[in-house]
Amino acid sequence: MNVLVLGSGGREHALCWKIAQSSQIDKLFIAPGNAGTNQVGINVDIQVNEFDKIRKFCIEEKVEYLVVGPEQPLVDGIADFFANDPELAKISVIGPNKKGAQLEGSKDFSKQFMSKYNIPTAKYQSFTKDNLEQGYAFLDSLKPPYVLKADGLASGKGVLILNDLNEAKDELRQMVEEGKFGAASNTVVIEEFLDGIELSVFVITDGQSYKILPEAKDYKRIGEGDTGLNTGGMGAVSPVPFADTAFMDKIENQIIIPTIKGLRNEGIDYRGFIFFGLISVKRDPFVIEYNCRLGDPETEVVIPRLKSDILELFEGVATQTLSERDVVFDERTASCVMMVSGGYPGDYEKEKNINGLNGIYDSIVFHAATKQDGPTYVTAGGRVLCVTSYGRNQERALEKTYDNLEKISFENAYYRKDIGFDLVEME
Ligand code: AMP
Ligand code: GLY
Repeated sequence: MNVLVLGSGGREHALCWKIAQSSQIDKLFIAPGNAGTNQVGINVDIQVNEFDKIRKFCIEEKVEYLVVGPEQPLVDGIADFFANDPELAKISVIGPNKKGAQLEGSKDFSKQFMSKYNIPTAKYQSFTKDNLEQGYAFLDSLKPPYVLKADGLASGKGVLILNDLNEAKDELRQMVEEGKFGAASNTVVIEEFLDGIELSVFVITDGQSYKILPEAKDYKRIGEGDTGLNTGGMGAVSPVPFADTAFMDKIENQIIIPTIKGLRNEGIDYRGFIFFGLISVKRDPFVIEYNCRLGDPETEVVIPRLKSDILELFEGVATQTLSERDVVFDERTASCVMMVSGGYPGDYEKEKNINGLNGIYDSIVFHAATKQDGPTYVTAGGRVLCVTSYGRNQERALEKTYDNLEKISFENAYYRKDIGFDLVEME
């Protein structure tokens, strides 16, 4: 099988690492990829939004599967672009069509979907500049903190959580009237704040049946003890100790099954991954958000725990035979910690030489933003790489990850030393 993966982060390196192990792989391409993906496949110099170049490449290289890592091309309709082109239609796309991607591409759509199908989520209302006064009144009716969400994609920055009512009103005004997040904030979802502990659950679906992948927890804040600015994710662990069978059953029955059925009922032929961003409130799960793709860095712990051949699952998605496929998971715990450029998520420098990558044993290094400069690897972004390890428990897995992180260095490197800190004592 010839496969093209779109994307360039740690998620894509983890996916490629797994695809490369498949007995069915012939050629694995990644566009644009990073220095890590180039070790397991062939990087192609095409950006994820260059649909015409992707088209040409897929035809020339006889690509059979297109695996879409990030949300933007999905929300922009890459699956529809393939389905509607006679020369591309036979290529199987792992990722939903434009309508399905609205689960992530529009918070307003996803909230309406959840209320229609009785899927537990925070109470909400949506506002535009035309009913701003009602938005203020809705904020008056809520207790702080106030949660404001830009309807569209805003590079992970479109969610504001504010304690002050006047500030919340002013932010709402800036979002809908002044385009604080561009067109993404023409509509704003205001919702009730849920107090609980978050986790991420991933499902792969062929539009009919589904398989649940191991759950994970990510750590979004830059600082230890979950403090400071939000980032793309500073580390992750899987499994999550509080997600026991009873809790996972609730997630499946109250959230996953109604979502899959709801998509079908809406006439959406969803083929790909669904990421359920969940919060446990007094042991009841609520949906915080849907994403139409895998999470990063959760993928870097979830995919290593998948024992089955991933291309067989993709084949199941393409031929709608997922229910007949076996999915086996590694019982061990996996943990990963991200090493980032000093200053991230604010300003940071790039092109720093990365040392120590050859001395890593018993862990996997997934590259997130690296490139190769002759024989050396250099940094190419904020989140540079992550170290994933297995262990018989969280503590052991984290110990290996931290031992190996100490061997890797670049100027101004930073990583959190407390990933999993809140879960170790729950095990
Ligand atoms: P989202 O982009 O929707 O995932 O929101 C980003 C983050 O904001 C989530 O991961 C949560 O930590 C937080 N958040 C979003 N909505 C809520 C809510 N209704 N209650 C509490 N926290 C929330
Ligand atoms: N880890 C959260 C995300 O990928 O959006």
